[in-house]
Amino acid sequence: MSANRSVLITGAGRGLGEALQSAFAADGWTNLPLVRKAEQSVRLKERWGGACVPIVADLSSDGAIATIEKALGENVQGLDVLINNAGLGGKASRLADVTSGEILELFGVHCLGAFRATQAAAPWLRNPDRAFVINVSSRLGSLARNASGEFAGSNVSVFAVHPGKVQTASGSSDADVPPAVAAARILRWLDAAERDGSARFVEPGVGELPW
Ligand SMILES: NC(=O)c1ccc[n+]([C@@H]2O[C@H](COP(=O)([O-])OP(=O)(O)OC[C@H]3O[C@@H](n4cnc5c(N)ncnc54)[C@H](OP(=O)(O)O)[C@@H]3O)[C@@H](O)[C@H]2O)c1
Repeated sequence: MSANRSVLITGAGRGLGEALQSAFAADGWTNLPLVRKAEQSVRLKERWGGACVPIVADLSSDGAIATIEKALGENVQGLDVLINNAGLGGKASRLADVTSGEILELFGVHCLGAFRATQAAAPWLRNPDRAFVINVSSRLGSLARNASGEFAGSNVSVFAVHPGKVQTASGSSDADVPPAVAAARILRWLDAAERDGSARFVEPGVGELPW
């Protein structure tokens, strides 16, 4: 039993999100399930009563931010846990079959939706002991795996490269690497990269970065 602890779970109208919502509600948490449909909100409220404060919002639009802020402002002093769970199943899996429209749609929920919920909830994550943002991901979201994806075992190597803090128009104010130096480092690194595996995130001339 976790009296007075609160959790906001997105995509809580069905699937894993609903199971998470039930688990936290049964454990006594104040729970704010974010759902898209009013009937899901009514059903959850009827089942779980006063400690359940459903939020009806669509995370694929910025309007969700104000809706979440309002619900938090009216119902809790603080938030202990945010679980970004809402998501869509991808339709295609092979590179040749995926469309940019589908990527945009997935990005709009999995990335921007999580961003919107986190931006709205951040001011409430004030538990001085510990607060959590838990992003439900997937083995398919493993950056290291996807850096190779279906190129794994082929002649194509895939790397992510941080060029350094480069002194260009989009560089930061403390950028310290001239573009020509960054370019030369990448060129030099490529020689070694040809013998150096795949699916890694590197800063040429410096070393490997954690994913
Ligand atoms: N199932 C798996 O094996 C598996 C494996 C790895 C990762 N995951 C991840 O686990 C999470 C939950 O998956 P699941 O299997 O429970 O999926 P699911 O049963 O399809 O449920 C997805 C949930 O996300 C909600 N959602 C989708 N788009 C939304 C939007 N724009 N705004 C607000 N809510 C939205 C859905 O709401 P509606 O009811 O309104 O559609 C639904 O509640 C996802 O992030 C998924 O990628 C699942």
